[in-house]
Amino acid sequence: MSSEQNSLMAGPRIAAAGAHHKLELAVVVPTYNERDNLALLCENLEQALAGIAWELIVVDDNSPDDTAGLVRQLGRRYPNVRCIKRIGRRGLSSACAEGILSTNAVFVAVMDADHQHDEAILTPMLEAARGGADIVVGSRFAESGSSGDGLSPTRLRGSKLATAMAAMVTGRALADPMSGFFLLRRDLFEAIAANLSADGFKILLDIVVSAQRSGRQIMIAEVPYVFRPRHAGDSKMSPLIVIQFLGLWLSSLTRGLLPTSFLLFSMVGVSGVAVHLAALWALSTWAKPSFVIAQIGATLTAMTWNFFLNNILTYSDKRLHGARLWLGLLGFYAVCSIGGLANVSVASWIYEMREATFVAGMAGALMSSVFNYAVTRILTWK
Ligand code: GDD
Ligand code: MN
Repeated sequence: MSSEQNSLMAGPRIAAAGAHHKLELAVVVPTYNERDNLALLCENLEQALAGIAWELIVVDDNSPDDTAGLVRQLGRRYPNVRCIKRIGRRGLSSACAEGILSTNAVFVAVMDADHQHDEAILTPMLEAARGGADIVVGSRFAESGSSGDGLSPTRLRGSKLATAMAAMVTGRALADPMSGFFLLRRDLFEAIAANLSADGFKILLDIVVSAQRSGRQIMIAEVPYVFRPRHAGDSKMSPLIVIQFLGLWLSSLTRGLLPTSFLLFSMVGVSGVAVHLAALWALSTWAKPSFVIAQIGATLTAMTWNFFLNNILTYSDKRLHGARLWLGLLGFYAVCSIGGLANVSVASWIYEMREATFVAGMAGALMSSVFNYAVTRILTWK
């Protein structure tokens, strides 16, 4: 029984109230330092969505420019505008998810605050969804859509590459799977929300893959538009986000078997091996201590490197600060030392059975990375 039927049975008064206030569309806008974009956004949405029962939900990660405070001010003028303010967390995908899950509206749209997405296509997107599309994507590359002047040549090339990579995991030709501009039924999102990965920039890709994996037949419509240059403020795109996307992509290729955070953790681990060797070389070239001391120094350097990189990359959404950062580092040293022991014992055990140096070495390394990942996930980045 649907929740609407439920409320009908609860009594005529409630049902009547429900019918009058039926929200059709929630526009969810994740923000980080977008203060100067929001007043204009409200104005534009009001024009673009005239005649539709809609609300705007800004999901702000406690921006230093007090975007959230501004939204509250705007809320006095626009009663259908509100803010979810998150403290101590960062991340585009999880912000979108929380916004979507917080509304009663039948449909939800996600768009950026910076005016790169054209609000004028929200109405045709909504129409496509009313007409039966499960997910409607605002596409920069669909026929007659374009990325206009909104993307630099490097971003454009990267975006095309990412589009091709995305097609490998969705198995279907979407013009713009990396779009941050889309609309879908809230109940569809709710049905798959538990399977989404909280990290990363690419929630649409994640939604499409999860919906398909759950065995649903998904109808996707695309509405073209011209991607505009950012209105005010700065983009949050960074090399870290590109690497996070790589992790999400690899995870999708394993059909979710290996979590994104494990893949990122492993990538960090591989970079740590390079740091270890570089530190060992530098120490034995310049300081010339005994090998054991140099090896200990290199191990500590690599562990420190891994810790900080995991803190900003793998667990960017649970990043540690202040005292918890330093406590976390100490704990990380302890866990990795046990992981190192596990590594050596597994490797020598296998080596005793079959004298295959490489196999034994790999098994040991694998053992310690799984161990370190599993334990630090529970103890360090809870
Ligand atoms: N709450 C929250 N937390 N919001 C965030 C965060 C975060 O950690 N990071 C970014 N945002 C918000 C920004 O404030 C903005 O409203 C929106 O997410 C998009 O961020 P931009 O920094 O403008 O991203 P972009 O323009 O480089 O990338 C956009 O276009 C891509 C297509 O080229 C995004 O929409 C991507 O999802 C999209 O793939
Ligand atoms: Mn942008």
